[in-house]
Amino acid sequence: MSSQLHTLITAEEIQNKVQELAAEISADYAQTPLHLVGVLKGSFIFLADLARALSIPCSIYFVHASSYGDRQSSSGIVKIQHSLNMSNKHVLVIEDILDTGLTLSTIMEELNKQQPASLKVCAFLNKPERRKADIDGDYIGFTIPNEFVVGYGLDYGELYRNLPYIARLENVEDSS
Ligand code: IMP
Ligand code: MG
Repeated sequence: MSSQLHTLITAEEIQNKVQELAAEISADYAQTPLHLVGVLKGSFIFLADLARALSIPCSIYFVHASSYGDRQSSSGIVKIQHSLNMSNKHVLVIEDILDTGLTLSTIMEELNKQQPASLKVCAFLNKPERRKADIDGDYIGFTIPNEFVVGYGLDYGELYRNLPYIARLENVEDSS
């Protein structure tokens, strides 16, 4: 089946939003050192842009999250790989998209065990219609309808992560 891309959020809209989020985060963490934890792979482009737009010092870490089964039929079992110690630190988790919320809630649970000084979430995209876990982002870029999207870090079968914009991918089978 052939797939077609339809632009949903332009590169310019993305860059404006990143500046807005960065200004808000810089103001909120002006008095405290900030530790960004990016969720691989999807967050790598958003995190790179956001970090460069922050006006405060921050350190950068990554965790790797994978859910079993193919992406669109997310099994609900999420495996997290990391070697972090965020005890007493102010942590902001950076995600590409908050979909069912299962990935982020697992990551938050893991990080909470380390007793950080604070723990918040910044998600570039939010698809509230698909939520299964009780989690909302603290900072959200764009809320989108229940459509499969690619670009700006998000993939379909490892492709399209490098698009500088967000596109809806049509003709994708969604088995969830
Ligand atoms: P969740 O655990 O269901 O919230 O899923 C989070 C992960 O699923 C994201 O980090 C993405 O990697 C992936 N994902 C969810 N929706 C989409 C989409 O529309 N396009 C590409 N990847 C997605
Ligand atoms: Mg991801």
